[in-house]
Amino acid sequence: MKLSLAIAAAAAISSVSAFAPSMSTSVKIATNSALFMSEEVETAVETPTTPAPLGPTLNGWTPDASKPCYGLPGAISPLGYFDPLGFCTDRSLAGVKRFREAEVLHSRVAMMAVLGYLIGENTPTITYGFDVPTIANNQIPEVSLGVMFPFFLVINISEAFRASKGWVEPGLGPLFTLRENYYPGDLGFDPLGLKPSDPKEFADMQAKELSNGRLAMFAAIGMMVQELVNGQPVLADLPF
Ligand SMILES: *[C@@H]1O[C@H](CO)[C@@H](O)[C@H](O)[C@H]1NC(C)=O
Repeated sequence: MKLSLAIAAAAAISSVSAFAPSMSTSVKIATNSALFMSEEVETAVETPTTPAPLGPTLNGWTPDASKPCYGLPGAISPLGYFDPLGFCTDRSLAGVKRFREAEVLHSRVAMMAVLGYLIGENTPTITYGFDVPTIANNQIPEVSLGVMFPFFLVINISEAFRASKGWVEPGLGPLFTLRENYYPGDLGFDPLGLKPSDPKEFADMQAKELSNGRLAMFAAIGMMVQELVNGQPVLADLPF
């Protein structure tokens, strides 16, 4: 800054040297502004700088590098912060946010899968038949493509929506990166208005969603594997 102003001042001096009357004022202005700039630079250096936050505050969460996972909610008792494989150790904020996005989305899919297994196997329907329970593992191959297509379309459209809402466009920034002002999982889809505006309540609700989601991920994989192994409906082993 100082250097370029000095160059500008030198240029001003040489360019106006042919016009004697205006010369002195130009030099004065140039010198003054150069002095002013140098003062400004010095004060900026002397002021003790508070570290800038890593990112904007979203839903009451301000990324904090001194906390595990930058302080995202989800360290739930009794385990507290539980990351034995060190997924979040030394990971960048962008990386941790991407992992959280994956965790929340897998959680939601798994919660729906658990409900889908239980309801799908035990609900008689006109299109699918009244012979219940059925075996959920077999249902997708049994459904015709014409019936499946609308579901694929809905998934495709909602994923396209999520991609444009949450992710930096490929080519406009680093790949696989969430937007800076996007809170992982907060797609703005809240038809029942359940999202609390209070940061503490939001963190609580997020922790509950993660708890249910983590359980559901284990439950869903358990149901799939159990059916593959014993070929029985999920609830067949219950004593009622
Ligand atoms: C939706 O389907 C189209 C056509 O198959 C595909 O090109 C596109 O990548 C899909 N979008 C998403 C988000 O899956």
